[in-house]
Amino acid sequence: MVSCKGALLAWLCAAVSIYLGYICNTHLYFRSPFSGVASIPYTLLSASNVSIDPLILASMKQFGFFYVHHIPNYNSSQELDYLQRFFKLPDTQKMRYAVRKHNPANTNVYRGYGPVVETSGTQYKEIFNIGPHEVQPEQSTSGDPLERLRVISRERNVWPQDTGFEEEFQEVFRRGFQIRSNIARSVIKSIGRSLGHPELIERFKESEFSTLGLRKYPMRTSVNEKMYSVHDDVVLSELEHEDSTVTILATFNNPGLQALYDGVYWDVPPSRDGFIVNIGTLIEDIADNQIIAVRHRVKQINHLRYSIPFFFNPSFDADISTSISGRQTTAGTNYKIFGEWMRDYLPVVEPGLLEDGILRS
Ligand SMILES: *[C@@H]1O[C@H](CO)[C@@H](O)[C@H](O)[C@H]1NC(C)=O
Ligand SMILES: *[C@@H]1O[C@H](CO)[C@@H](O)[C@H](O)[C@H]1NC(C)=O
Repeated sequence: MVSCKGALLAWLCAAVSIYLGYICNTHLYFRSPFSGVASIPYTLLSASNVSIDPLILASMKQFGFFYVHHIPNYNSSQELDYLQRFFKLPDTQKMRYAVRKHNPANTNVYRGYGPVVETSGTQYKEIFNIGPHEVQPEQSTSGDPLERLRVISRERNVWPQDTGFEEEFQEVFRRGFQIRSNIARSVIKSIGRSLGHPELIERFKESEFSTLGLRKYPMRTSVNEKMYSVHDDVVLSELEHEDSTVTILATFNNPGLQALYDGVYWDVPPSRDGFIVNIGTLIEDIADNQIIAVRHRVKQINHLRYSIPFFFNPSFDADISTSISGRQTTAGTNYKIFGEWMRDYLPVVEPGLLEDGILRS
């Protein structure tokens, strides 16, 4: 009888713990803090409807990001389709659009194609950068690296030719650029209104250095020690970092993105047919730290991953040395205008694209 009772007890325990586990997991799932992140319909955002301002502000204060959904004339599957078609082109063809670092016959240094370069750590991606310019600015004759960077900021796009889909590709991504640019502008306006400084948008008037980056993250066959998170030993394909300006991100249906909340990294639900919007440290600084630049990372996942970030940047000549309230910013200890800041920042974040020393005097 005793053993029978014991067995019964064990069975009961197992049943109860399975049930509790179920409850706990379900409960945990619903308790992801990110179920509280705002999701804003595009039409209200682009119409500058003030009813969304408190939602955006609250999400940016608590989480550092929010979603935009229901975007007219935007089809994420179509973008993904053309992105994949481009990256599937033969390497020899893609290299025709490569930045000068990888194709010395070319003049483009930032827009265009960047092949996978095996550097240390987690930089392991193929890139195609698209900007807002179709006309090449005059080359700078001055030896000043800042003037060289000013030309780079306005560098014209390098569109793929002879692919059989070049017209649709251009149309899809030009439209994609405009949609994101619109979203980013509307977000900055909303934040400016909420913080009592609607003139914040003036610093983005030109935003000539903005970039849409098509990205392919191939699967890695080996793991190196630099890919482990210092936070919790998870294997990463993008190390923990904060962005710098304004990011409008499409992750499609890909898992992997995680964001820090209350000392723990949580999965960020994919953007699917919409976008994830976050700001970076420079904007946090300019906004007097009233909204946060979320720290995030990408977990290594065992398949090919694509994403399209869009970086919406202040104008080249925008003052970044003072915050909206007139305080000196952290960036302001070293830089007056955005271009100066970018001269130091860009080579660090894009070592695979920029030629060594191109921005040194
Ligand atoms: C703003 O959006 C709300 C909610 O959809 C709507 O009721 C209101 O009429 C809109 N305001 C303006 C000025 O369009
Ligand atoms: C979106 O694009 C995909 C892939 O190109 C296509 O199959 C689908 O019909 C499109 N959806 C809409 C609503 O246009």
